[in-house]
Amino acid sequence: MTRKAILTIDGKSIELPILQGTCGPEALDMRGLYQETGLFSYDPGFTSTASCSSNITYIDGDAGILLYRGYPIEQIVENCNFLEAAFLLIYGDIPNYAQKQDFEKMINQHTMVHEQLRSFFHGFRRDAHPMAIMVGIVGALSAFYHDSLDIDDTSQREIATHRLIAKMPTIAAMAFNYSKGRPLPYPQNDLTYAQNFLKMMFSVPTEQYQINPIITKAIDRIFILHADHEQNASTSTVRLAGSSKANPFACIASGIAALWGPAHGGANEAVLAMLKTIGTKDKIPEFIEKAKNKNDPFRLMGFGHRVYKNYDPRARIMRQSCHEVLEQLGIHDPILEIAIELERIALEDPYFIEKKLYPNVDFYSGIIFSALGIPPSMFTVIFSVARTVGWVAQWNEMMADPAQKIGRPRQLYVGNPERKFQKP
Ligand code: CMC
Repeated sequence: MTRKAILTIDGKSIELPILQGTCGPEALDMRGLYQETGLFSYDPGFTSTASCSSNITYIDGDAGILLYRGYPIEQIVENCNFLEAAFLLIYGDIPNYAQKQDFEKMINQHTMVHEQLRSFFHGFRRDAHPMAIMVGIVGALSAFYHDSLDIDDTSQREIATHRLIAKMPTIAAMAFNYSKGRPLPYPQNDLTYAQNFLKMMFSVPTEQYQINPIITKAIDRIFILHADHEQNASTSTVRLAGSSKANPFACIASGIAALWGPAHGGANEAVLAMLKTIGTKDKIPEFIEKAKNKNDPFRLMGFGHRVYKNYDPRARIMRQSCHEVLEQLGIHDPILEIAIELERIALEDPYFIEKKLYPNVDFYSGIIFSALGIPPSMFTVIFSVARTVGWVAQWNEMMADPAQKIGRPRQLYVGNPERKFQKP
């Protein structure tokens, strides 16, 4: 039997159904609220609002649990490569051998970008932030792939999905090489997704590129950890853009824009900058005090999360991976020591304990990226390559949902009431 909540306003009562998911909090069905009461719900930042129902990713923020299609992230990282995780997120289950082969083949068919798109890069300044290039180039894909723009055609939606997953590493590596003044790379389809990305990033035509298995494994793991995270700001942006029936390339470009901000995907770049500014361990208490000071806008980057009120499970894996990678590559990084000490001090501080502020996924990723030779401006770009899988999975789910409507929030108007026009 459906449970209901009773809401009484000015003596009039209405019943609001309580919706049950498979896990997690139930949700009050507010769809009839305005019609029945003339009231809106008010929830800036959507802190108490479920914007959709979804069966892709589940987070239990209090317990620090993250599931992709029901599988704990730790098990996915242990047993899958990135394209297997991508298949799982998009199609709902782990691929068998034949499905895996087919999916890899399909993605590999689409790794190149239209030759004419290459000239777009030359319109950017060499010092452009690669995220600026990503927003522009991914949006421009809609000008090239007209045969996958019909969002009502499921096979076109699937081709767009494959194209986006396949082309993102190529575009990211092109953006990086453009900033370096190096030739724009081409993909090599007999390599894995992670190998191909690294080769496009770092190979030069004059030298043989050596694939490093430690670096490849670390990047593949980072891709998996960033692949989806339910209705975060960028995913919600993709869904909102998609709800107006915009084409998938435009929707993903909007997701990249939302990801760029330092409160979201841009935090990984900001963490490294912060650790470098802290510089030495003795300065940590000073920065902790700044973070706690209400009159100072400074926040500990890589700490806190809207949903996790416990250690982010991705951060736990990333922390371990960080140690392994630095050890295997024989790198001694004083920045890692500052990070560990900062984490220790923050986790013992009453302010952070009381507000349940734990390290998030971005806290350690920057240190691994640096160890792998990836510059800070590319951190969020790599996040966007991985998150494209989540964005397209969520976009496809929404497009197939018969309950889907254009996203159109309302507002609490606090401006002038109607007034008569008078010349000043
Ligand atoms: N350092 C110091 N204080 C903090 C921090 C922090 N990193 N994060 C939150 N707080 C405080 C905040 O001042 C507030 O205090 P009070 O209740 O006294 O006003 C309280 O904790 C709750 O913060 P909030 O801003 O209301 O929480 P939110 O859910 O709106 O924001 C967040 C979540 C991730 C934007 C925020 O924690 C933050 O800015 N963290 C730093 C940036 C960061 O690491 N972002 C990456 C997030 S994970 C990856 C991703 O999403 O892409």
